[in-house]
Amino acid sequence: MEKLHITGGRHLNGTIQISGMKNAALPILFACALNDETCVLQNVPPVQDVKTTLDILTAMGVSVNYRTPTTLEINGAGFRPGSSPDELVRIIRASSYLMGVELARCGRTRIGQPGGCDFGGSRPLDYHTRAFEYMGAEMTTRDGFVGVAHDGLHPAKIMLDGASVGATINIMLAASLIPHAEGDPETVIVNAAREPHVVDLALFLNKCGTNIRGAGTSEIHICGTRALHGCTYTIIPDMIEAGTYMAAVAGTGGCVTLKGVISKHLDSVMLKLTEMGVSVEDDVERGTVTIRSDGVFKPVQIQADVYPGFPTDMHPQFAVLLTAAEGVSKVTEKVWPRRFAYLDELSKMGARFVHGDLSPDVTFLGSQKLSGAAVRATDLRAGAALVIAALMADGETDIFCPENIERGYDDLIGKLRSLGADITRQEVFSHGTHPAAVAMW
Ligand code: EPU
Repeated sequence: MEKLHITGGRHLNGTIQISGMKNAALPILFACALNDETCVLQNVPPVQDVKTTLDILTAMGVSVNYRTPTTLEINGAGFRPGSSPDELVRIIRASSYLMGVELARCGRTRIGQPGGCDFGGSRPLDYHTRAFEYMGAEMTTRDGFVGVAHDGLHPAKIMLDGASVGATINIMLAASLIPHAEGDPETVIVNAAREPHVVDLALFLNKCGTNIRGAGTSEIHICGTRALHGCTYTIIPDMIEAGTYMAAVAGTGGCVTLKGVISKHLDSVMLKLTEMGVSVEDDVERGTVTIRSDGVFKPVQIQADVYPGFPTDMHPQFAVLLTAAEGVSKVTEKVWPRRFAYLDELSKMGARFVHGDLSPDVTFLGSQKLSGAAVRATDLRAGAALVIAALMADGETDIFCPENIERGYDDLIGKLRSLGADITRQEVFSHGTHPAAVAMW
């Protein structure tokens, strides 16, 4: 077992490169299984969820060749629907995309129960299965998901009850191999998710031969094709990774330039930082954003919502800042109303807040200097939030379960160290383990 060991109180200064976006790379990698020709993907982040995805795909017959650690050649000609390894499927949420891919490929799907971060309740896939039913598949749940479209999938107009990222992506994948001729009906998603990673998948599929229109708006039209062709495609930068470093600099103080950012994707995050009194310099032409902070900021209200609202995947990181803001702040979580597991960990560091059981709101009392403690990364973004808390805190913090953070952050330790942070990965029980950690484990 390992842990992150962080000594807080250092300012962050310097420049870092933002990696490719995990949540765009995952569906695009699964989409390669739809394609008998080779695709070259650039800017693929070498994070654990990507590695798990590649392990699933190779186990299913997809060939993967690394040109560099971030450029991959992928060929889906050998893809065998129905052969997904349950033990890997249950690790990541994105394995649900296999349903769309398998149904598109052969009109049948069988996958185990997808995993992913636990937000204190079930993470249903009912929008996905209902959409596939509209497209002609019979879906059942048997230790996972099984579906058959006896006559293949057909186009449908699908209304999503919520603007789900996963369901929008899965429908796009499923519809991409339904051949479309002039005058044929199109597959239409009403109330589609508008996140940048949905747009990235649409652009990739279109480069492979589909005609998808409206991605980035709430109505997407999909005209599929009999067979996709190969292409070279570059994954967009990770807006959540960039936002996490922005929050870290705001919290610790210092001046950091982030390179390779599409700042438009971060409007809500940058505007919130500005409202808090943090300096944000956006150089659109260069693709850089510079954050300058003296570590002092005003309280704010945040509503975590679907894009272009404030991203739910930035909620825990900003919550940490609000523990130190000069006054009372409130966060309302509208996407994952129970995404509050990080609060118990933050309270070990002295955070003061009011949160009723099952409430989607939390009030931070602010003006609190956090102090080092032994804490656990309960999920990916909660873990990132604890890293920020540890960097801001007095004293030393041990963060257990760092593998939950490494699912989605490329070289977190290297990037933070290059900015001056005192952070190391250590074997647990070797030396210097916080006594509370022994009790915890
Ligand atoms: N929902 C349903 N039924 C469904 C699907 C979703 O009720 O069939 C509900 C969920 O319970 C939730 C809401 O709809 O309340 C949004 O879920 P969505 O489907 O949009 O989330 P997801 O596709 O499972 C992706 C990201 C998450 C991110 C959410 C929201 C990936 C692999 N995961 O999850 O990212 O929080 O969208 O933006 O893209 C992360 O990277 O840390 C992460 C958790």
